[in-house]
Amino acid sequence: MSDTSAVTQSTFPPSADFAASANATADLYDEAERDRLAFWDKQAKRLSWDAPFTEVLDWAEAPFAKWFVGGTLNVAYNCVDRHVEAGNGDRVAIHWEGEPVGDQRTITYAELKDEVCKAANALTDLGLVAGDRVAIYMPMVPEAIVAMLACARLGVMHSVVFAGFSATALKARINDAEAKLVITVDGQYRRGKPASLKDAVDEAVDGEDSIEHVLVVRRTGIDIPWTEGRDLWWDETVAGASTEHSPEAFDAEHPLFLLYTSGTTGKPKGIMHTTGGYLTQSSYTHFNVFDVKPETDVYWCTADIGWVTGHTYIVYGPLSNGVTQVVYEGTPASPDEHRHFQIIEKYGVTIYYTAPTLVRSFMKWGRQIPADHDLSTLRLLGSVGEPINPEAWRWYRTVFGADRTPIVDTWWQTETGSIMISPLPGVTETKPGSAMTPLPGISAKIVDDDGNQLEPGTEHGEQPSGYLVLDKPWPSMLRGIWGDPERFKETYWTRFAEQGWYFAGDGARYGKDGEIWVLGRIDDVMNISGHRISTAEVESALVGHYGVAEAAVVGATDDHTGQAICAFVILKSSAKGGDENIVDELRAEVAKEISPIAKPREIHVVPELPKTRSGKIMRRLLRDVAEGRELGDTSTLVDPSVFEAIRASK
Ligand code: PRX
Repeated sequence: MSDTSAVTQSTFPPSADFAASANATADLYDEAERDRLAFWDKQAKRLSWDAPFTEVLDWAEAPFAKWFVGGTLNVAYNCVDRHVEAGNGDRVAIHWEGEPVGDQRTITYAELKDEVCKAANALTDLGLVAGDRVAIYMPMVPEAIVAMLACARLGVMHSVVFAGFSATALKARINDAEAKLVITVDGQYRRGKPASLKDAVDEAVDGEDSIEHVLVVRRTGIDIPWTEGRDLWWDETVAGASTEHSPEAFDAEHPLFLLYTSGTTGKPKGIMHTTGGYLTQSSYTHFNVFDVKPETDVYWCTADIGWVTGHTYIVYGPLSNGVTQVVYEGTPASPDEHRHFQIIEKYGVTIYYTAPTLVRSFMKWGRQIPADHDLSTLRLLGSVGEPINPEAWRWYRTVFGADRTPIVDTWWQTETGSIMISPLPGVTETKPGSAMTPLPGISAKIVDDDGNQLEPGTEHGEQPSGYLVLDKPWPSMLRGIWGDPERFKETYWTRFAEQGWYFAGDGARYGKDGEIWVLGRIDDVMNISGHRISTAEVESALVGHYGVAEAAVVGATDDHTGQAICAFVILKSSAKGGDENIVDELRAEVAKEISPIAKPREIHVVPELPKTRSGKIMRRLLRDVAEGRELGDTSTLVDPSVFEAIRASK
C-alpha cells in the first residue's frame, strides 16, 4: 500500500495527467513479455533501415551477439537527415550555451545536417575510411557532436576521451585504438578562464605513429603550439567543404564507437559498441524513459560527451528522436550557482537529466537559489551514475519538480550502452533511491553466489544483497573489448559462466515489491561523483612515483561525491622524511597520470599494508579504516598489529 502523507511518502505514483499522455503505458511490459524478440523487432523498426534485417538476434556465438542480422543503416542519417526529410529541418536540434555568459548558438536540424556533411567530406579528404579510429578530445562545443556524427556517417569509429583526462590518459587511448586523427580545440573555458587543451594533445601524440593529423576547433583564440603539415584548423578544413554528402549504409554490426572505461586492472578497456542494436535501444529508451515529445519538449542532459551518458543521451538517443535539447559547455557554478536554473528558465527546459552528486551540490547551495527562478516548465527529472540517496531524491522532486514531476532513476553502464533498469514515468509507482525494475525487453536478476535468484524483501527486514546479473542479451550490449576478446569473456561472463549471464559488477537487493535497489560496485571499481575509476589505475599512478614502494587504494563513502579515493602508501626509505611534500607530489602525479578527478581525497603514509598470507592486500579492512569503522575479521592477516600503525598514521 502506498503511504501518501507528504513527508513520509514512500511511493510516488505518476499523476493521472502524466499517465494519460505518456509515451509508454503498462502494455509495453506485457508486449515484451509475450515475445521479447518480436518486441525488439518492432523497436528496431522505429529507425530507418536501408536493407531490412532478416533475424532479430543471433546468439549462437555467445557472448558475442549479433542483433538485427543482415540489416543495414546509417546512424547519422537516422539522427539528422531523416528529420529534415520529414519536414522538421527548422526545428532546433541544439540550443548551445557557452560557459561565458551570452555565448550561445542555435542549431536547427537542417543546419546540423549541413555541418555533419561538411565534416564528413573533410574527414574523407583527410583519408579516413570506414573502420578507422578517430580520437575526439573536446569540451562541450557543438563541433564535438558534429565530429561524432561525421564519424558515424562514415562508419569511422570515434573514441571520445573526456577533456578532463590528462595527456597520459589520452595517449594510452590513442595508442590502444591506433587512432589516425585527433579532433580537439585550442583551449577550453574552465570557470571563466581559457585553458589550453592543444598542449596536452601535442604531448599525447608525440611518438604515436598512427596519428596523421590533428584537427583543431578554434574555441578560445589562445596561442597554441602548431606542427605544420600535421595540424589543421577546423574552420579552414571543414568550413569550406561541401554540404552535399550521401550517407552509406553499414551493416547492423558495423562498429560505431569505442569508449574507454576503467576496469579492475590498471589498463582502461576500449568498450566497443556497434550500429543497429545500439541505436535501437538508445532511441527506444530515450523515447520511453524520458517520455519525449519532439514537437514540444526541451530536453537537457547535463552529462559530458566524454562519458557514455553523453554519447547515448546527448547524441544518439535525443537526435534519433528528433528532439530539441540544451547543451551547456561549462560547470554548474560558473559564473555562480544560479547557472543551471537560469538555463532551465531561459530555454524552458521540460526534461532534466543529471547525476546525484550534482543534486547534492544544489542541496548544499540551498533552496534560495532555485527559488529565485521559474522552474515550472520542468515535467520530468532523471538521475544516473550512482545510487541516489532518498534524501537527495526527495529534495530533487520537491525543489526542482514542485512535488509534481516523476523522477526516473536510471541504472545502466558504459557496457550496457543504454538504460536497463528504470521506472517508466507514466506507469511506475517509484520509491526514492530505487531504480525499480528492468525496462520492457530487458531481463535482470539479483542472485546469490550459486546463481539462485534472491527473494523479494519483506515488510520488516531486508533480504540479503546479491549480484546483479543480466540474464538475457540486449540490443545495445557491448560487443567486446577492443583488441582483447579474452578479457571481454573473462571480465563479464566468467562469474556465471555456467548460466551464460553477464555480471555487471554491482551488488543489489530486492525491496518488498520486488523492485531493485542497486548498492554499488562490489569489484575494485570506485564511483567518484558518478565517474568510474579503478583502484588499480590509481595504485599504478602512485607506484609510478619514485618515492613509493607500495600503494593500496580504496573507495570510502563520501556524503558529497558518493565515494572518495583513499590511498595508503608505503614510501621507499630514500623518500622518507619529507612526508608533507610527498603527499602533494603524489596527488599531482595522479592528476598527471589520469585526471584531476582521480586525485585521492586522503593519502596516508603507512609503514605497512594489511596482507593475507598469500600476499593479497585486504582492501575490505582498509575500507573499514577509511570509513572509521570497527575492523572486520582480521584473522587471515599475517600481522594484525599492522593496523595500530596504520591508525596511528591517520
Ligand atoms: O555501479 C553502477 C553505477 O555506475 C556504474 C556504471 O558506470 P559507467 O559505466 O561509468 O556508467 C555511468 C552512466 C551510465 C554501474 O555499474 N550506476 C549507474 N547508474 C546507477 C548506478 N548505480 C545505482 N543507480 C544508478 N541509477
